[in-house]
Amino acid sequence: MIVSIIAAVAENGVIGRDNQLIWHLPVDMRFFMKTTEGHCILTGRRNYESIPEKMRPLKNRTNIVVTRQPDYQPESRQLKIVNSIEDGIDLALKLKEKELFIIGGGQIYQQTVQLADRLYITEVKQSLEGDTYFPTIDHTHWNELSRIIYPADQNHAHDMHFVVYERSN
Ligand SMILES: NC(=O)c1ccc[n+]([C@@H]2O[C@H](COP(=O)([O-])OP(=O)(O)OC[C@H]3O[C@@H](n4cnc5c(N)ncnc54)[C@H](OP(=O)(O)O)[C@@H]3O)[C@@H](O)[C@H]2O)c1
Repeated sequence: MIVSIIAAVAENGVIGRDNQLIWHLPVDMRFFMKTTEGHCILTGRRNYESIPEKMRPLKNRTNIVVTRQPDYQPESRQLKIVNSIEDGIDLALKLKEKELFIIGGGQIYQQTVQLADRLYITEVKQSLEGDTYFPTIDHTHWNELSRIIYPADQNHAHDMHFVVYERSN
């Protein structure tokens, strides 16, 4: 099973503020939905709860929520709850997933970047204020596989680069 991380990251590493995203980037949202469709997604409890109620669990994918709360009640029968990241990865393996997507937030990215095989990073070409960061990517461990440039337009305030990295060692 490939373990992938997917994130949109500002130039200064910021990914969120006040448990929300800090931008409205419809093209990136569509990229996220298309890339993760049909797969298991692993999310921290805070990121999960930041998804608008009517959109969660994200449909057409297996939503796995990581929490340390032993009695956390799933709000939907489709939702899988685990108490560690390792248990989340094991569950995806048991479900015969081919590519697990780790979808954040900051705490979960920090704890998984060292075990991921692939990174799907939307580089948002602007430094922005926030309180949650993506870990620094050590480029000596990652090969850039592809980069698609999407310039800012009337619906997107920032230039974006859609970059895929694969672990090199
Ligand atoms: N730009 C992007 O691509 C992107 C993507 C995703 C999220 N975000 C942003 O990131 C922010 C949320 O990130 P966050 O760092 O605050 O929270 P988070 O990583 O989404 O969730 C943290 C929670 O996950 C659980 N957790 C963490 N490590 C665990 C472990 N080892 N074992 C078991 N449970 C564990 C804990 O839940 P309990 O407290 O329940 O124990 C913890 O409070 C928001 O602003 C969101 O918008 C941005």
